[in-house]
Amino acid sequence: MANIVLKNICKTYDKKQVVKNLNLEIGDGEFAVLVGPSGCGKSTTLRMIAGLEAPTEGEIYIDGKLVNDVPAGMRDIAMVFQNYAIYPTMTVRGNIEFGLKNRKVPKAERDQLIHDVCEIVGLTEYLNRKPSTLSGGQRQRVALARAMVKKPSVFLMDEPLSNLDAKLRTQMRSELIELHQRLHTTFVYVTHDQVEAMSMGSKIIVMNEGVKMQDATPLEVYHQPRNIFAAQFIGTPPMNIFDVASVGTWEGCAPEGCQKVGFRPEKIRMHEPDTATDDNEFFHLEASVVTRELLGAEAVYSLQSKAGSLQVKTHDSYLPEPGEPVRISIRKKDIFFFSEDGKRIEK
Ligand SMILES: Nc1ncnc2c1ncn2[C@@H]1O[C@H](COP(=O)(O)OP(=O)(O)OP(=O)(O)O)[C@@H](O)[C@H]1O
Ligand SMILES: [Mg+2]
Repeated sequence: MANIVLKNICKTYDKKQVVKNLNLEIGDGEFAVLVGPSGCGKSTTLRMIAGLEAPTEGEIYIDGKLVNDVPAGMRDIAMVFQNYAIYPTMTVRGNIEFGLKNRKVPKAERDQLIHDVCEIVGLTEYLNRKPSTLSGGQRQRVALARAMVKKPSVFLMDEPLSNLDAKLRTQMRSELIELHQRLHTTFVYVTHDQVEAMSMGSKIIVMNEGVKMQDATPLEVYHQPRNIFAAQFIGTPPMNIFDVASVGTWEGCAPEGCQKVGFRPEKIRMHEPDTATDDNEFFHLEASVVTRELLGAEAVYSLQSKAGSLQVKTHDSYLPEPGEPVRISIRKKDIFFFSEDGKRIEK
């Protein structure tokens, strides 16, 4: 078990700064998720923690110890990569056992570890198979199992589920959560998938273009986003954002310095066009339906209003069709306010 501290970490490749003054504290036993769009610096950050890449500036501490000069093999970490590398000539068992043999773990202990881990990731029946006879997802699980048997004090994972189909992904997601609960090891997990981040992380670190946009629990990011980027990255469909000036009625209520307003698609109610709403509690807008997606339990709408286009996610039985006019209402307390540079203004 170990905590991780990053102090003023910068990484530059060919004069381009890809990680910018990153400060981060990951507690002992935490499940931290680095999340952000492609190219934002997630893998680079993880590789610096692993010791596979040296920071251009700044310090990395693992368990209170400065590790900038500690080689990867001495950091007591295990890493599962986006592009897993397993040995094609060895069986599944051989792949998982390899590192254990290197570390001279006794045979009985090795067998027990392999048995336990393979039960968890569902590889038991494939132990004697060669990787070439496995599906991509099964190979990914070999890579996971191989990292797990090391029992590291820090577990680094770079999109380990990205090659799995949707169903297996969901299953492996809960299994990783369970695994974390069982091991209490510090996990640092990289994904560009906000649903994965929300469901797995005890803490999520939202990054964009090498900059940390927010660092908090998933629900905190959802309910108290620090800026428009975090607000729109977490939640699907993304939060609707408008210029405050585009909707006159909001101006009176917006706080000082507010240039943009936002509200989440799932907080919007749709009504028949002439429905009365309580103007003290709600804001409302007239809109028309552009498209609707009926997903079974819920429906996602795109609407056009005078403020611009917006999305609505509804569980209601009222399901207007494309072309129909609607009236939408949003509780005033569900509206977020932002300054011109995208910072959230708390009211
Ligand atoms: N070895 C390298 N040499 C030069 N540039 C690099 C190198 N590794 C990464 N980069 C650049 O650094 C930036 C961040 O890359 P990184 O791999 O950390 O992104 P990421 O957030 O993991 O993206 P993805 O979700 O696509 O995996 C990118 O612009 C990338 O092109
Ligand atoms: Mg990456």
